[in-house]
Amino acid sequence: MTKQETIEKAKEHFGKLLEAQFDRVDMMKKQSKFLDYSKLDTIIIGIVGGDGIGPYITAQAERILKFLLKDDFEKGKVQFKEIDGLTIENRVRQMKPIPDDVLDELKKCHVILKGPTTTPRAGDPWPNIESANVAMRKELDLFANVRPVKVPEEGIDWVFYRENTEGAYALGSDGIHVNDDISVDFTVATYEGSYRIIKAAFDYAKKSGMNKVTVVTKANVVKTTDGKFLDIARKVAKDYPEVEWDDWYIDIMTAKLIDPNRRTQFKVMVLPNLYGDILTDEAAEFQGGVGTAGSANIGKRYAMFEAIHGSAPRMVEENRAQYADPSSIIKGAAMLLEHIGYMGEAKRLQMALDICGQYEKKLVITGRNTGATSEEFADYIMDTLNDPNLESKWNSYVKKCCR
Ligand code: IPM
Ligand code: MG
Repeated sequence: MTKQETIEKAKEHFGKLLEAQFDRVDMMKKQSKFLDYSKLDTIIIGIVGGDGIGPYITAQAERILKFLLKDDFEKGKVQFKEIDGLTIENRVRQMKPIPDDVLDELKKCHVILKGPTTTPRAGDPWPNIESANVAMRKELDLFANVRPVKVPEEGIDWVFYRENTEGAYALGSDGIHVNDDISVDFTVATYEGSYRIIKAAFDYAKKSGMNKVTVVTKANVVKTTDGKFLDIARKVAKDYPEVEWDDWYIDIMTAKLIDPNRRTQFKVMVLPNLYGDILTDEAAEFQGGVGTAGSANIGKRYAMFEAIHGSAPRMVEENRAQYADPSSIIKGAAMLLEHIGYMGEAKRLQMALDICGQYEKKLVITGRNTGATSEEFADYIMDTLNDPNLESKWNSYVKKCCR
């Protein structure tokens, strides 16, 4: 191919990508309000095991949900829908990040609890298909990836609002290999997409009383997309005079998260997709690693809650899957409960998780037969939930540790 032909072919590819982005913007513009769960006769909770250790830990989180929602489950107010088929084998068989029949089932739910799924990359034994996570976020338009990190004894109380459907991820599997020498990826920021995530962060800062938002970009270098994100943040901030806000660049932000004097000043953070991906892993490390963090993926019609770690296929190969730590997906389950309006249950589950995982630690998970199994840990959580003195027990631990 001549140089000119190669350029024309790349332009054609780019044109198609832009068309899809126009469609996405139209879809966002049409979106109505957030679903009101209190108005539903039945809330359908989808349970998706995923790959590797996923089905093991997700089953434990499901047991805990059924335990906490027992009454409403029996009354039919809450329904569980187990959805199989989001495994790497099935995805590869159908060469789709989410097979059509699985997507149809997902769309019948209101909220979803999802175990980790394997994300292939070039050179892996699997074909390089798009990540199931990324596809689900796009298909169900789950634009807000909310990731809280708390370390009370260090004064850390952060909530990340990571943009979840655009940025470097929007076309992450659709870049152009122009020729052997040149490859191009794209980063997308739309007005609607940036506005809705920034607004969600400010709304949360206001509603929670945290009253502080930090906008993180690299707008000094990535001038077009990050520049737009920051610009929209300036506009949105004007609607929230009671919420203090500042903006930081991602590089210095990454450094300042480890500065004990500075980091306690951060509260709610809002940031484009890729920066959010990276910064939330760093943040989770202060709390005990990605295995301890939960993640909510929220859209107007659907919401999905997940563990933020991977599928750990090695644990399955080595017959240790039953020893996997279910804390992160259980934390996801607590966020799900809060999202659909079971505030008391969510709070109790969070307290039980703190007691079992951080304070009392009667059982320890090591990932091998030297520690407890996921099932034993879930039993421990449920025993703790049954304790009528749960709240005072939690309060006394918090007082002791954070004086
Ligand atoms: C996350 C994960 C995913 C992401 C991967 C598995 C595609 O790292 O949820 O943070 O990059 O978003
Ligand atoms: Mg990540």
